[in-house]
Amino acid sequence: MSTSASDPLAGPARIIRRAVCPGSFDPVTNGHLDIIGRAAQLYDEVVVAVFVNQSKSSMFTIEERRDMLQEVTAGYGNVRVDTFHGLVVTYCRDHDIPVIVKGLRAVSDFDSELQMAQMNRGLAGIDTLFMPTNPEYSFLASSLVKEIAKWGGDVSSLVPPNVLKRLQERTASTE
Ligand code: PNS
Repeated sequence: MSTSASDPLAGPARIIRRAVCPGSFDPVTNGHLDIIGRAAQLYDEVVVAVFVNQSKSSMFTIEERRDMLQEVTAGYGNVRVDTFHGLVVTYCRDHDIPVIVKGLRAVSDFDSELQMAQMNRGLAGIDTLFMPTNPEYSFLASSLVKEIAKWGGDVSSLVPPNVLKRLQERTASTE
């Protein structure tokens, strides 16, 4: 183990293990939170990064999504939230993050996720860690939550309370 050349009393250099959880988070669900919480136990620092997914239209602005995530992850000392317009690998390179953490709900997620993981590794050498979703959340998707909420269905068991409140406000204002 190497020690700092400038400070002979310094201990061994410690590598900070850092990972990113990227997503649209429109809005964050209990399924996302499960993955974020488990990633926070595996890595020293976890960045939850809200990206613009150009193939999806969103209910919440990127700032609203960031704010909801900040509220629900405030209890984790090693999780921070950020936003980014661009490629996930560009974000990783700019912030010295070597690993992407993604949740897999079902085999159907795997095809596209594997393709993205291999593309990201080919583009920039960034690896992806797949984490199986808690079976309790295997059917959960932000798109379904929004659809159910728009029609007045009960999503209180699917999202954290602050997100439920924002969903109710948003759907009430667009009725
Ligand atoms: O929650 P989502 O919508 O499934 O998240 C998808 C996300 C944001 C991870 C994906 O759209 C993405 O990677 N966007 C950034 C653009 C990018 O890096 N695309 C190339 C993927 S190989």
